[in-house]
Amino acid sequence: MKIVSVATHVLRHQLEQAFDSAFSTFHDRWACLVEIGTDAGVVGWGECLGPAGPNAALVEAMAGRLIGRDPLDIEPIWADIYNQFRDQGQRGATMTAQSGIDIALWDIAGKHFGAPIHRLLGGAHRTSIPAYATGGFRPVGRDRVATVVEEVKGYMAAGFSATKIKIGFSVADDLALIAAVREAIGPGARLMIDANHGYDAIEAIALGNKAAHFDIDWFEEPVVPETLDAYCDVRARQPLPVAGGETWHGRLAFTQAIEKRAVDILQPDVCGCGGITEMKKIFALAETAGVRVVPHVWGTGVALAASLHMLAVLPPAPLRHGARSPWLEFDQTHNPYRQAILSTPIVQKGGRVAVPLKPGLGIDIVPEIVAQYRVGGSTSE
Ligand code: NI
Ligand code: CA
Repeated sequence: MKIVSVATHVLRHQLEQAFDSAFSTFHDRWACLVEIGTDAGVVGWGECLGPAGPNAALVEAMAGRLIGRDPLDIEPIWADIYNQFRDQGQRGATMTAQSGIDIALWDIAGKHFGAPIHRLLGGAHRTSIPAYATGGFRPVGRDRVATVVEEVKGYMAAGFSATKIKIGFSVADDLALIAAVREAIGPGARLMIDANHGYDAIEAIALGNKAAHFDIDWFEEPVVPETLDAYCDVRARQPLPVAGGETWHGRLAFTQAIEKRAVDILQPDVCGCGGITEMKKIFALAETAGVRVVPHVWGTGVALAASLHMLAVLPPAPLRHGARSPWLEFDQTHNPYRQAILSTPIVQKGGRVAVPLKPGLGIDIVPEIVAQYRVGGSTSE
């Protein structure tokens, strides 16, 4: 089997209601999908986390090294691409682009061998994953507390028992939101807070101390991701478990965070950290060091499917009777193509999502929907 084509699809939906994270305003939903074709007719899909246009350009730049190769040479291809871009790569968009390629190769391998990716990786520890609803962004031009309270009530009504909301704007305003959300979802629901690195260490420490009595599972990205020492300060000087890792790329970045004990919970994203190949190694590093892993997920059904296979194979740590399962991060903010590109949507039922069982990623892409939202991309042959 040989790779004969590498295509990128840049998808866009302009949002009717823009929303803010701590450092950015979302006016659109963007995605970069990767589609790799073979001479056997098997097609694999992947997705890249982050800016869609630059990801597509980098995948295109890497395509020349893929055409003509056996797509089952997943590790050699990973090493070759990494090596070629190492001097100006290592982290950032080169790694997010490489992640999308790697996921597509695993999809091809699964389809070729007639097995879901989690089986190729050694088998599933679990076949369904508890999901938490990600949302609670600050709506542009609307009352933040009222809007987010209604939103999280909707998640609970839909069957979720856990949600993550966005903070990182101002300590006082964020505390008011956390209090309102905790009251709205009740004492039994799980609540996580995500600052999207909007604070400095002093603010993060203040917020964490004042928010502790709201029973919060973790405090995500309190400070900018480059400052591992600031992460350590936040961890040491406030009581909430600290989470981070969605912007860290490759084994080395995760090794550094683990060695410093910068976080309680590592959050690699399969579409960003280097793909399935690299994420499996990051899982092993985290398990060896005794650091909990809860993957980050943000994207389309392709990213969701890839993440579900990784969640299936994440080692239970510790293995015990009724071992704790990791959470699936399930973005619930508006994105009309997230599920529409799949012939069968990935849905939660009673707050749980089933791991796909069909070969490869276990999803079928609907080309007409991809075409409908496609605003860019290219095909290399
Ligand atoms: Ni819309
Ligand atoms: Ca986050």
